[in-house]
Amino acid sequence: MSQQRKKLVVGNWKLHGRLADNAVLLDAVAQAASRLPEQVKVGVCVPCPYLAQTQTLLAGSVVGWGSQDVSAHLQGAYTGEVAAEMVAEFGATFAIVGHSERRAYHRESADLVAIKAGRALTAGLTPIVCVGETLEQREAGTTEQVVGVQLDEVLARLSLEEAARIVVAYEPVWAIGTGKSATAAEAQAVHAFLRKLLVARGAEVGGVSVLYGGSVKPDNAEELFRQPDIDGGLIGGASLKAQDFLAICNAAAATL
Ligand code: 13P
Repeated sequence: MSQQRKKLVVGNWKLHGRLADNAVLLDAVAQAASRLPEQVKVGVCVPCPYLAQTQTLLAGSVVGWGSQDVSAHLQGAYTGEVAAEMVAEFGATFAIVGHSERRAYHRESADLVAIKAGRALTAGLTPIVCVGETLEQREAGTTEQVVGVQLDEVLARLSLEEAARIVVAYEPVWAIGTGKSATAAEAQAVHAFLRKLLVARGAEVGGVSVLYGGSVKPDNAEELFRQPDIDGGLIGGASLKAQDFLAICNAAAATL
């Protein structure tokens, strides 16, 4: 089945960036992405203040862009929030929702993440729905239960047509920013489980892309991306270094 799905590599800049640095990085990404086969799609999710710059510098390129979160609200007295519709106005196509850093540091519940995914879809964005277990949960043997509930909460709120438009990212919390990626076999096992849940919702939902995230680097990307149920990556630290990010995009192309 993975043969039919395109590869997708998305950078998550997190709380990084400055106008001058972004310009250099975005230019390098746009140029390199133009040389990739069209079955490899590339995106960057930037801090919201840089959406305008990203829109300007990536206009006409094959690279997509988006935010790292959206509000669960449409509008109103919600100081500091950014609505999905606002993000979409910058020509964005992606919005990460439910990243483990937001679940942990902002106490985002599975239900809230599901509402955010719905808001992104209504605004015409592709929500990249992150799921993943902590080290304690993995050691307790509850990985499948944890990621299953996280995904099911989102799917339960969406119509089948909407569910078919999401992207899922499996990001084990213990692998994020630690330099300790899941092995290809560990990641594939969870991806296969997530795929089973998606397929159970019907053929169209079963075709949703499932990305792996957590210490993806140029030297482990290709092996991860070669797994049958891994459709690409959500890249943190390595997405800030043009050379590393481009090497990871090339690794995706090498698996076609
Ligand atoms: P790192 O690639 O820095 O481990 O981060 C992964 C991540 O959280 C992407 O969303």
